[in-house]
Amino acid sequence: MDEDVPPDPNLQNVLDHSTLKWIFVGGKGGVGKTTCSCSLAVQLAAVRRNVLIISTDPAHNLSDAFRQKFTSTPNPITGFNNLFAMEVDPNPENARLAAGDNEGSFLADLAGSIPGIDEAMSFAEVMRQVKTMDYDCIVFDTAPTGHTLRLLQFPATLEKGLSKLMQLRGTFGGAISQIGSLLGANIDEMQNQLLGRLEELKTTVEEVNAQFQDPELTTFVCVCIPEFLSLYETERLVQELARFDIDCCNIVINQIIFEQETGGSSLLAARVKMQQKYLEQFEDLYEDFHLVRMPLQEEEVRGLEAIRQFSQMLIEPYQPAGEKKSDRVLQLETEVAQLKARIAELEQAAAGQ
Ligand SMILES: Nc1ncnc2c1ncn2[C@@H]1O[C@H](COP(=O)(O)OP(=O)(O)O)[C@@H](O)[C@H]1O
Ligand SMILES: [Mg+2]
Repeated sequence: MDEDVPPDPNLQNVLDHSTLKWIFVGGKGGVGKTTCSCSLAVQLAAVRRNVLIISTDPAHNLSDAFRQKFTSTPNPITGFNNLFAMEVDPNPENARLAAGDNEGSFLADLAGSIPGIDEAMSFAEVMRQVKTMDYDCIVFDTAPTGHTLRLLQFPATLEKGLSKLMQLRGTFGGAISQIGSLLGANIDEMQNQLLGRLEELKTTVEEVNAQFQDPELTTFVCVCIPEFLSLYETERLVQELARFDIDCCNIVINQIIFEQETGGSSLLAARVKMQQKYLEQFEDLYEDFHLVRMPLQEEEVRGLEAIRQFSQMLIEPYQPAGEKKSDRVLQLETEVAQLKARIAELEQAAAGQ
């Protein structure tokens, strides 16, 4: 490839990369992660056998985006037979309630004692479920930046949890089982069950992480807006992903206002200028990334039809109306020139008579 030519400014590469199984969409809150992940999932559904979109953001909005209620199990999205959605509750309180049994409360206690392990376990649980399902491609609408990156440290977190548990067992094991037997409970067995369960979750997370680090299977799509904070966050995200060996070569820059569309507003013109400054910085920093520029729309992107239209622009870059108008002007100019030539011809013919 010619080194001077930047990568295509669209997500076609994701559609073409048919081995991709896990596609993460992440970035700061409110930039358009849900909109972009739903749009990408809609595009993927056209080229893949089946696609599942999972929201792991506590502020679920797949339901809002598609105007359809989703739950913690995959539901088909109306209008498709191969696109499914589920909203996972990463809130450990709820995961705990769902577990319900003794083992669950033990896990919950453990969860409380090690920072991050609660989320680690609920994510591992999701992955365990998803692994048993037959989806060709899974798109994650992730929680804002911090959360996403924590997901990737789960094996280490779980490892810590396990060793802490072993340690507690070593220190208090005897006393605990004595108290347990006084109460008529088999604490040892409960602990063994718990350990078994944690080991299982850890294996799942390790397997999954190995897949996450394989660029043939996994990629991360960053979503951002052309503003200082978002640029800064994106850079942090890109660096962390590199540190975790997770492939990332697409950045969607959303909510762009085009110069041709300011309608004479000086406020919007100032905004455009500011955005352009950051767009240039994105171009400088990420010259080997696919930078996908998405326009700010007049309306929210809600409902399947709006998502479909929006998703089209992930593949074919948006052309501002202003440019389309100038195409039209060019066309009219050509027509005018042709008519003038015809008039001249007719005048000559008339003069010759
Ligand atoms: N390019 C855009 N133009 C107009 N509205 C947008 C655009 N992108 C997203 N939105 C709207 O902005 C809101 C936040 O977007 P959302 O995708 O939910 O962000 P996030 O998931 O990052 O919090 C939603 O109401 C969505 O419809
Ligand atoms: Mg969202």
